[in-house]
Amino acid sequence: MADAPPVEVRGLVKRYGDVYGYLGPNGAGKTTVLRMLLGLIRPTAGEVRLFGRDPMLAGAAALDGVAGFVEAPRFYPYLSGRKNLELLAALDGHEAAGRIDEALDIVELTDRQRHRVGGYSHGMRQRLGVAAALIRDPKLLLLDEPATGLDPAGMRDMHALVARLSLAGTTVLLSSHLLTEVEELCNRVAIVRSGRIVFEGALEDAKRTAGGEWRLRTTDDARAADVCRAQRGVTGVRAEPLELRFQATEDAAAALSVALVEAGLAIRTLVPHTATLEDLFFRLTEDEPEPAPADSVPAVTEAD
Ligand SMILES: Nc1ncnc2c1ncn2[C@@H]1O[C@H](COP(=O)(O)OP(=O)(O)O)[C@@H](O)[C@H]1O
Ligand SMILES: [Mg+2]
Repeated sequence: MADAPPVEVRGLVKRYGDVYGYLGPNGAGKTTVLRMLLGLIRPTAGEVRLFGRDPMLAGAAALDGVAGFVEAPRFYPYLSGRKNLELLAALDGHEAAGRIDEALDIVELTDRQRHRVGGYSHGMRQRLGVAAALIRDPKLLLLDEPATGLDPAGMRDMHALVARLSLAGTTVLLSSHLLTEVEELCNRVAIVRSGRIVFEGALEDAKRTAGGEWRLRTTDDARAADVCRAQRGVTGVRAEPLELRFQATEDAAAALSVALVEAGLAIRTLVPHTATLEDLFFRLTEDEPEPAPADSVPAVTEAD
C-alpha cells in the first residue's frame, strides 16, 4: 500500500468576510434601515432577521455577534479612549475586556488610548467606534457612513481598516453616499433612493448593466463614427477633435469593437470615461421615474 501523501485536502474552504455596500444619497433612508436592523426603531411594516433572530422580539440577544454604530459613535469626552472601551466592555462581560488591546491595535489607536476622547480627531473617534464594535467580536459589523466627513488620510485609513476586517472574516454592512468608496470596498451593493432599493446585486452586474460614456480612437474616426451610429445600443455619438465619444453598456461597446474590425478599422483606444457605477447610480436615483414597490427588499418611506 502506498504511503499516505504528505498533504491531502478535501472540501477545503477558506471564507473571507464580505463587504456589503448600501449606497444612496443623503436622506435616502440608509440610517433608518440600520436603526431598524439594530432594533432601535420599529419597522412600520416588514421584518428584520439577524442570523435568523428578530431584533424587535429577541431584544439584546438578537444582537449576539452583531455590532456597529449609526451616524456617529458616542463616547465620554473627558475619559480616555481606553476607559470608554472599558466601560462598554463592562456591559458586555469580561470576554469583551480581554479584547480591548487587540481592538485598539486593529484600529491603530494603541498610542493614543490614554488620551481623552474630547481631544481626538473625527477620524480617531470613528476608529474608536469601530474598536467599540470589535470588542463584541462581531460576525456582522454595521457601519453607517464611517468615512464620511473624514479628511483624505482619515478616509484612506478607514477604508484600509474595513478591508482588513473583511479579510479577517467579518462581514461588513457599510452604508455610504460615496460611489468610489463602495466601488473600492464592496462585493455586493444595494442602491437606495427615497427609501426604496432600486438595485441589489453583485457590483460586476451593476457595472455591466450601467451605460457609461466611452472614448474611441481608430485608424479612421470619420468612418468609425458611421459604424458607431449604426451600432445597436450605442447612443449620443459625437466627434471631438481627437476622438469619438458615445454612450453604451459594456456589452454594446464590446459588440461595437467587433463591428469596427469587421468594417476594416483598427482600434487604437476604447476606454470607458466615467465610473460606470456612478452612471448607474445617477440613472437609478435621479433620471428614472419612482420604481414600483418591491416586497422582497427593505423599504423606508419618507414622512413627507
Ligand atoms: N424621526 C423621523 N421622523 C420623520 N422623518 C424622519 C425621521 N427620521 C428620518 N426621517 C426622514 O427619513 C428620510 C431618511 O433619513 P435617513 O435614514 O437619515 O437617511 P440617510 O441616512 O440615507 O441620509 C429622510 O428624508 C429623513 O428626513
Ligand atoms: Mg444617514
